[in-house]
Amino acid sequence: MESIFTLFHVVMAIINSYTAQETTCSLRGEPAYPQIWKDGDIIVGGIFPFHFKWDMTDSSYAVMPPATKCTSLEFRSFQYTQTLIYAVEEINNSSSLLPGVSLGYKIFDTCGSTTQGVKVAMTLVNGNEKSISEQICTKPAQVQAIIGETYSSVSMAISKSIGPFSMPLISYFATCECLSDKRKYPSFLRTIPSDYYQTLALAEMLKHFGWTWVGAIRRDDDYGNSGMAAFTKIAEQLDICLEYSLPFFRTYSQERILRVIEQIKSSTSRVIVGFVTQWDFEILLPILSEHNITGYQWVGTEGWISDPVVAKLDEHNILQGAIGLAIPKTKVTGLEDFILNIKPLKSVGSAIFNKFWEALFNCKFTAQNDSEDSPICTGEEKLSEIENTFTDMSFMPIFNNIYKAVYAIAYTLHSLLGCQHTCLTKKQPDLFTVS
Ligand SMILES: *[C@@H]1O[C@H](CO)[C@@H](O)[C@H](O)[C@H]1NC(C)=O
Ligand SMILES: *[C@@H]1O[C@H](CO)[C@@H](O)[C@H](O)[C@H]1NC(C)=O
Ligand SMILES: *[C@@H]1O[C@H](CO)[C@@H](O)[C@H](O)[C@H]1NC(C)=O
Repeated sequence: MESIFTLFHVVMAIINSYTAQETTCSLRGEPAYPQIWKDGDIIVGGIFPFHFKWDMTDSSYAVMPPATKCTSLEFRSFQYTQTLIYAVEEINNSSSLLPGVSLGYKIFDTCGSTTQGVKVAMTLVNGNEKSISEQICTKPAQVQAIIGETYSSVSMAISKSIGPFSMPLISYFATCECLSDKRKYPSFLRTIPSDYYQTLALAEMLKHFGWTWVGAIRRDDDYGNSGMAAFTKIAEQLDICLEYSLPFFRTYSQERILRVIEQIKSSTSRVIVGFVTQWDFEILLPILSEHNITGYQWVGTEGWISDPVVAKLDEHNILQGAIGLAIPKTKVTGLEDFILNIKPLKSVGSAIFNKFWEALFNCKFTAQNDSEDSPICTGEEKLSEIENTFTDMSFMPIFNNIYKAVYAIAYTLHSLLGCQHTCLTKKQPDLFTVS
């Protein structure tokens, strides 16, 4: 007992000597900066995967791990960004919604990594100041709500970190049923339906076609694992038998992926349910084709089934005849033209804009001395002359989900600020004040 009290005294002494000076909060780690940013009276946060890969580094645990290095630009996130900006501008222009209050935005990249997701979410909530004294510590949060993320796992990690602060996270694409658990994710909201409905419909569809002996590949994250668990439960009730359910993730070793392939080869079912996302096929398709795994009936989730990226990757028609469920078709008037008008994007995010332009037009702004000889960008390249994921509008239903998310935030603010013909205040509602 005595020793505990001694320790207690020591702890008290440390606390006392700290409080003797002014209390300061200091930032842990390196600050993170938004990719795209515009100021306003009230800021909306955005968290999108501007890249779809990141370099894996083996941590030695002896030195501070380096910052996440994101690679491979994901054009879709630029479409998401344009959609968010479009909605914000439309609301800014509106004389009936939030009159006299301007919305701004801060948009960050996660590259699909949960670690990076939590880091940027914390930045959106806390700001980037290196150190903050006690007085400034009480100022309201940096953003009022965050729109994000694409991936369920990243959304879960973010939501768990910011949930205790009641900071809303509104996802346009994360479908994992697990995110509906309000005890774990009290401030998670979404404008896309939960997989609860999708798994039900997929199982009914299999039953309808009489496909009752099936295999499955699932993305080894919350989307795939939780989706597959829900699917298995429903399938059982409908007398559908699952021969195998194999996990897969892009960071798996070659041997591990080969084991998955071997299991498919030695199976007898001819239907494969793919609870994966579009970029998983970048790795899966070449291996499936190399091992002649053709002639299977694929059944897909909304994560890839209607994505032209997959169709393009499928050079050997492995997925021919695949069927699945997609988000209903919609259109946001004027959005397509707005998205394709990319030049204004430069003024709100010049660093990533140049990378984006280079990737879009396959050129470089400065001459490279390495062997790959990309032409020099003139800055006058025309979008009308290219065709790629960025010019493809088949994700309009997802853009619509982002559009709806921004409007949901605006309507909430409109009522919180007591706006009628004018708003009573332009001040940020303070989420953190306990009154
Ligand atoms: C909102 O409108 C004001 C006034 O027209 C303009 O100055 C501001 O840049 C706009 N903000 C956004 C985010 O578009
Ligand atoms: C907002 O108003 C400006 C100025 O009238 C206009 O140029 C812009 O296209 C409008 N933006 C949207 C999204 O309606
Ligand atoms: C796939 O099929 C081709 C042509 O039929 C054959 O040459 C090749 O060995 C097969 N590959 C495997 C891994 O079975």
